[in-house]
Amino acid sequence: MQFAGSHILSISQFERADVERLFAVADAMRPYAHRERITRVLDGAILGSMFFEPSTRTRISFGSAFNLLGGEVRETTGFEHSAIAKGESLYDTARVLSGYSDIIVMRHPQDESVAEFAAASRVPVINGGDGANEHPSQALLDLYTIRYELAARARDLDGLRIAMVGDLRFGRTVHSLSKLLSLFRGLRVSLVSPEALSMPEEVVETLRAAGHQVLQTDELETGIADVDIVYSTRIQEERFASREEADLYRGRFRLNQSVYTANCEPNTVIMHPLPRDSREGARELDTDLNDNPNLAIFRQSDNGVLVRMALFALILDVVDQVKGHAAPVNWYTERRF
Ligand code: NCD
Repeated sequence: MQFAGSHILSISQFERADVERLFAVADAMRPYAHRERITRVLDGAILGSMFFEPSTRTRISFGSAFNLLGGEVRETTGFEHSAIAKGESLYDTARVLSGYSDIIVMRHPQDESVAEFAAASRVPVINGGDGANEHPSQALLDLYTIRYELAARARDLDGLRIAMVGDLRFGRTVHSLSKLLSLFRGLRVSLVSPEALSMPEEVVETLRAAGHQVLQTDELETGIADVDIVYSTRIQEERFASREEADLYRGRFRLNQSVYTANCEPNTVIMHPLPRDSREGARELDTDLNDNPNLAIFRQSDNGVLVRMALFALILDVVDQVKGHAAPVNWYTERRF
């Protein structure tokens, strides 16, 4: 694909070579993200950040990534603070906001809404999550993390064994991740969910068409045995008709240290797009895993900044200029890990 000037709406836009290119740029962003150097390559550029659904990581890491490249961020959060609450259409909003920004990232509760917005936008638009449909930048940072975690365990992506657990019906991150994994070869994918929350057939077909072995089960213990990665997800309460309906499934698959020890191989990596639901009745990923070195969830959220910096640098076509606009850091930067 051509990154420069493109919208990023779906993982289906990517080929394997595009992913490799993006990851190489993400690697090159490390010194800036880690505050060894600063760069002002996007000096003067404006990111329009529009989040019409709750977001912590995606919103802040997109904003930080843009700031780390020297650009500025203008934010709208929630319908109540935008003219959409006055009945303005996505088309008009896109026409107006694209006049104020050089690039836009948007999250919206309706499937395909970001594509509709992008069609009317005069600048590139990145999908920060559209309903239960897709979350492409999350899938990219997930795969970037998987690659690093596997490399640390002397393994390769081809032949990966991964379990995706939880709400596979409404979870957009697992939809995008599955599409991305379909670019690789010889995977074994265990899909662990209650029957009513199973992976959409179209996504399962994409995995099968890539030649991957797909197993579907509603038993956590069998699903997470013999895998390299367990990718846990939250019940997407906001997509259910009522809270009571979500309660039927909440807490159904709880991974904690004793379940991990009893069922997983010793080096199995634990991932989650976050937020994990830490309320009493949920706890799909227990806090007693916090000291488990295989818990990769915060390495995953850190990687989001690198991958989002790479997306901006590629779409705004400044990859080759980043170093030329670099300078030393003036402040105390040591971080505790
Ligand atoms: C995910 C999302 O919004 O789809 N969060 C995120 O962006 N990291 C997952 C979720 O909310 O459960």
